[in-house]
Amino acid sequence: MRKPTPRSPVLPWTKPPRERTPMKALVHDGNGNIALQERPQPTLQLPTDAIVRVTRSTICTSDLHIMRGAVPHAVPDTVLGHEFVGVVEEVSADVTRFKPGDRVAVNCETFCGTCFFCQRGWVNNCEQGGWELGCRIDGCQAEFVRVPFADNAFTRIPDSVSDEDALFLGDILATGWWGARLAEIEEGSSVAVIGAGPVGLTTMMCARLANPGSIIAIECDPHRAELAKRLGLADRIIDGSAPLDEIERAVQDLTEGRGADSVIEAAGGDATFEMAWRIARPNAVVVISAMYEHDQALPLPRMYGKNLVFKTGGVDASGLDEVMALIESGKIDTSCLISKRYPLNDILEAYRAFEAREDDCLKVVITPWE
Ligand SMILES: NC(=O)c1ccc[n+]([C@@H]2O[C@H](COP(=O)([O-])OP(=O)(O)OC[C@H]3O[C@@H](n4cnc5c(N)ncnc54)[C@H](O)[C@@H]3O)[C@@H](O)[C@H]2O)c1
Ligand SMILES: [Zn+2]
Ligand SMILES: [Zn+2]
Repeated sequence: MRKPTPRSPVLPWTKPPRERTPMKALVHDGNGNIALQERPQPTLQLPTDAIVRVTRSTICTSDLHIMRGAVPHAVPDTVLGHEFVGVVEEVSADVTRFKPGDRVAVNCETFCGTCFFCQRGWVNNCEQGGWELGCRIDGCQAEFVRVPFADNAFTRIPDSVSDEDALFLGDILATGWWGARLAEIEEGSSVAVIGAGPVGLTTMMCARLANPGSIIAIECDPHRAELAKRLGLADRIIDGSAPLDEIERAVQDLTEGRGADSVIEAAGGDATFEMAWRIARPNAVVVISAMYEHDQALPLPRMYGKNLVFKTGGVDASGLDEVMALIESGKIDTSCLISKRYPLNDILEAYRAFEAREDDCLKVVITPWE
């Protein structure tokens, strides 16, 4: 009998290590200064990590809050940015759902998926995470980024969805989705959204899916208010720069004298917290999506008898496959938010134009380093 030929051992295939040339990254110092620096490329650190090559990122208004030193838990000298899509470059041993080469949208929140809070969907308060990327650990305004708990953080981008169509999923679209869900919108009800900035507009997009009777947008920037109307996101618009009494009356006139059934505050202005509870009808739900730079007063004696439910805080950005499916089917389209594109080389200019709302800028897209 012939002896079987010995087979050469099958060695596990390992990807050759990436060349780790320094990368470009936008870093803030916690004192209002940002700078484009050279940083080492991130490496895998934990078994649940992945490295993503950023193909599109963007600037969020929350980055401006960090830059101004108004986010207490933000860590200086961190790479900014938490809203992005990219291609998976490397994965650690415990990442099972994704592999190098996959196109992914990344949640702005890091979450373990198993702790007390994660089990209830409250991933913003994950005991091992929360808003980490671009806040407490290096974020996405760079060429590469390390993403912890990658299996939870990623949403696969279908072939038919472009990077730009998926770009806002992990942050402002997740926030719009979350805010609209928290607002307990009933079919035929009235929803008031304060602010028609990027978050206000995604909120209206998601609120619309619940089939309310009317969406009232309150906004002081006439271009943004008009846009909300033109896109069919708002049915009625109210000038947010009018005196509060007038705004309150205008909402009452549109809601049979009662006030709005649901209010979502997505402006974060000086007077918009007070506006939110004043335009709400008794027993309404008031959702605070905006991030304030100053404390707000809760004047309970003046509110007495209104019996409001307030829901506050940072988005619980999870369960986003459902929202990706809405993008894929064309039911949600955020392309209207994109005003300008800049390569990473020009990100300082992009910050300037975004913060100044130059040429009615809503969102800027950061393309890779050229
Ligand atoms: N909850 C979250 O997890 C989460 C996620 C993303 C962003 N945010 C926050 O949401 C807020 C909105 O984000 P954005 O990118 O849309 O910001 P933005 O500043 O572009 O939009 C806010 C809008 O509110 C309008 N506004 C200001 N004062 C007003 C007033 N008195 N009446 C009516 N409208 C008024 C502004 O004109 C502006 O268009 C920011 O504070 C941001 O940090 C929160
Ligand atoms: Zn954000
Ligand atoms: Zn957790």
